Amino acid sequence: MTHNNTKAERTGFGSKIGIILATAGSAVGLGNVWRFPYMTGENGGAAFLLVYIACILLLGLPGMISEFIVGRRAQANAARAYDNLSGERPWRFVGYLGIFTATIILGFYAVVAGWCLQYLYASLLGHVQGSADYAQTYFQQFASHPVKPVMWALAFIIITHMVVVRGVRKGIERASKFLMPILLILLVILVIASCSLPNAWKGVEFLFKPDFSKLNSHVFLEALGQAFFSLSLGTACLCTYASYFKRDTNLLGSAAQISVLDTLIAILSGLMIFPAAASVGINPDSGPSLIFITLPNVFQQAFGAIPVVEYVVSIMFYALLVFAALTSTISMHEIGTAFFTEEMHMKRRNASFVITLTASCISVFCAWSVGAWDSLKIMGLSLMDFCDRLTANILLPLGGMLTCIFVGWFIPRKIVFEEFTNQGSINANLFLLFVFTVRYICPIGIVLVFLHQLGII
Ligand code: PFF
Repeated sequence: MTHNNTKAERTGFGSKIGIILATAGSAVGLGNVWRFPYMTGENGGAAFLLVYIACILLLGLPGMISEFIVGRRAQANAARAYDNLSGERPWRFVGYLGIFTATIILGFYAVVAGWCLQYLYASLLGHVQGSADYAQTYFQQFASHPVKPVMWALAFIIITHMVVVRGVRKGIERASKFLMPILLILLVILVIASCSLPNAWKGVEFLFKPDFSKLNSHVFLEALGQAFFSLSLGTACLCTYASYFKRDTNLLGSAAQISVLDTLIAILSGLMIFPAAASVGINPDSGPSLIFITLPNVFQQAFGAIPVVEYVVSIMFYALLVFAALTSTISMHEIGTAFFTEEMHMKRRNASFVITLTASCISVFCAWSVGAWDSLKIMGLSLMDFCDRLTANILLPLGGMLTCIFVGWFIPRKIVFEEFTNQGSINANLFLLFVFTVRYICPIGIVLVFLHQLGII
């Protein structure tokens, strides 16, 4: 009884379907709609997409199941989960690493989520319609403003904070039950609109016709990072959420469904952006601003003939994007909040405050580093890009790899079997394949990508 109460306090998750939706909500977000198109654009298109899908299948899916196993078995926050299952304190470090990584991601992710809030607000006022040139100037002026991007980013973190502290999460989960399908339908409509623009086929070709000469070690690392970022893998976020899963949740089935949904939304986002970008002459490698400078053109060219439709579609799209981002930021926030509440014995409200304050500081500097204060650079990258690459390309794969090693080599095989097969009742024939993958394929694959990037092999 006490245990159940603690669980309810920890998250306020409503039901079995609620927690699976929340996990899918964590995975689907700006990583799919904003980061995937810009990464694909910067890394040569279709060849990147192929490597990305390989990373999801070979490394992401087994990594996700591994985090689920650790979380559901241990039923505790990230740090305690690793500790509980191994009985060896050094494994706590993986949990700490996850909390650290998630808080940095929350910091820069909120900046982009803030951009979405600004675009939602501007579309409500009818301000973001316009030509490619106008869209580019609009974005630049907004992003380099010393106050506005900071204000929106902080607003986003505060909204996240309120959801995490107040436990209005049940409502959010219920809402995602119908908002996620609406996002999917709207994406399909925008894909059709984008693909019917003049010269759109060039963009479709860019996304689906691989040019293998574009493959190099950096592309592998970026695809690996994108796969982990998009699946929310390597921050112990999935482990934290899985600690609320039911005993009969099919871990393999849930991981497969979430990965398919996540990849589908990423590909649809690519199909929404590249044909439109090709049609209006925006470079696919325009970087983080890509969707913000391309989308207004899609809205205008496809629906401009009936202004009210253009108005409604743009508002709906940015509102859904904000919602998708929120379900992801809640998950990043929850990792640290659960940790400080349970391990440091802080009140949930105070624990949340620590995360909110830390993420807000990161956000402010990240927002300035891509605008008003663009001399704020680390290793030649803006602070925002630095935080993005540090987490996606290094910390997430590292966290995911350690989890695979932990599950493959350190947790007793019997426990892994019980969790993977729900006490022998399902998926038993895939068990050995899973163990082989997490023992060898995942760690070796990730180490090879790291070494290749460092030029060692
Ligand atoms: N997977 C999220 C997205 O694609 O937007 C981003 C994310 C969420 C990364 C939670 C890491 C995390 F812990």
